[in-house]
Amino acid sequence: MPALLLVYPKELPTKLSIELAPKHRKGLLLANPVMTASGTCGYGTEYSHLLDIQKLGAMVCKGTTLEPRDGNPQPRIAETACGILNSIGLQNIGVNALIRDKAPAWAGWQVPVIVNIAGETIADYAQLAGKLEGVAGISAIEVNIGCPNIKTGGAEFGTNPKSAADVTAAIKAATSLPVLVKLTPNTDDIARVARAVAGAGADAISLINTMKGMAIDTTRRRPLLGNITGGLSGPAIKPVALYMVYEVAGAIEIPIIGCGGIATAGDAIEFIMAGASAIQVGTASLTSPQAPIKVLEGIEKFMAREGIENIAELIGVARHPSSPL
Ligand SMILES: Cc1cc2nc3c(=O)[nH]c(=O)nc-3n(C[C@H](O)[C@H](O)[C@H](O)COP(=O)(O)O)c2cc1C
Repeated sequence: MPALLLVYPKELPTKLSIELAPKHRKGLLLANPVMTASGTCGYGTEYSHLLDIQKLGAMVCKGTTLEPRDGNPQPRIAETACGILNSIGLQNIGVNALIRDKAPAWAGWQVPVIVNIAGETIADYAQLAGKLEGVAGISAIEVNIGCPNIKTGGAEFGTNPKSAADVTAAIKAATSLPVLVKLTPNTDDIARVARAVAGAGADAISLINTMKGMAIDTTRRRPLLGNITGGLSGPAIKPVALYMVYEVAGAIEIPIIGCGGIATAGDAIEFIMAGASAIQVGTASLTSPQAPIKVLEGIEKFMAREGIENIAELIGVARHPSSPL
């Protein structure tokens, strides 16, 4: 597998800055590589008394669909030995309410807001991207093509390179914003899907979404979740996510955003060394809303301790046998 190195065209303003869309006309400059993961920080406002979101690199909001959705039947969360299963089913307020009620607040923020979108058809995705065009307060789109919790459409696109590329191309044609495509681990060849998506014009790739799983309620003798299956997240999926970032980093030349079980700075640094340019904190925020800030502070301490001048020096170092120890 060839060892690819990302080349950043511009000088970055600080040692923690990351450009997530280096090939895009507008770019997507982050003050640091720590982001929230979609669905675990609402619209960024709900946690404002617990988390100073402005200190992060970017905020990714809850998955947004054309129409509001009530989501799946309860129960929708089950704890597991080393993470959680969720089957929220993309409960959200819909794109029109997001533009009307949420974006105006974001327009005053310094932290870039990335809107996560999901649809049932390619036309849905293109329409969503079109609606977000020119809305103040929105810096980029993250495309969920791998939600395991909805029965039609979106969940399927990410499992197949051709459909993943088709949906990416349709969104790119509908928007001038940078487009991040979020991949699902529920596929047999993630590198092929990543290559297809990059070839269709994605500016960056986020991975991974949750892994399909289930739990049984032994008293009721029935599946525990109302939707029967759910998506596994948290520390249990970290080794899988890390492997997939490593694998995809060898297959594409656009930035990767690593996600899956990141709870500490040590976890984040592993993902960066595997090839991620930025990382997202998800499930860890549900029990510790300060987790993304703690991860950021820990990265800064690590860099100071190790004499790292610039975060970009760490990206993908574990992939290169000749990198200094
Ligand atoms: C409660 C919950 C809701 C989620 N909702 C979304 C969503 O709307 N869109 C999306 O792309 N991912 C969603 N995810 C997936 C996360 O963004 C993330 O990819 C996944 O949980 C793995 O990261 P983690 O282990 O740090 O949580 C959700 C995850 C959880 C736990």
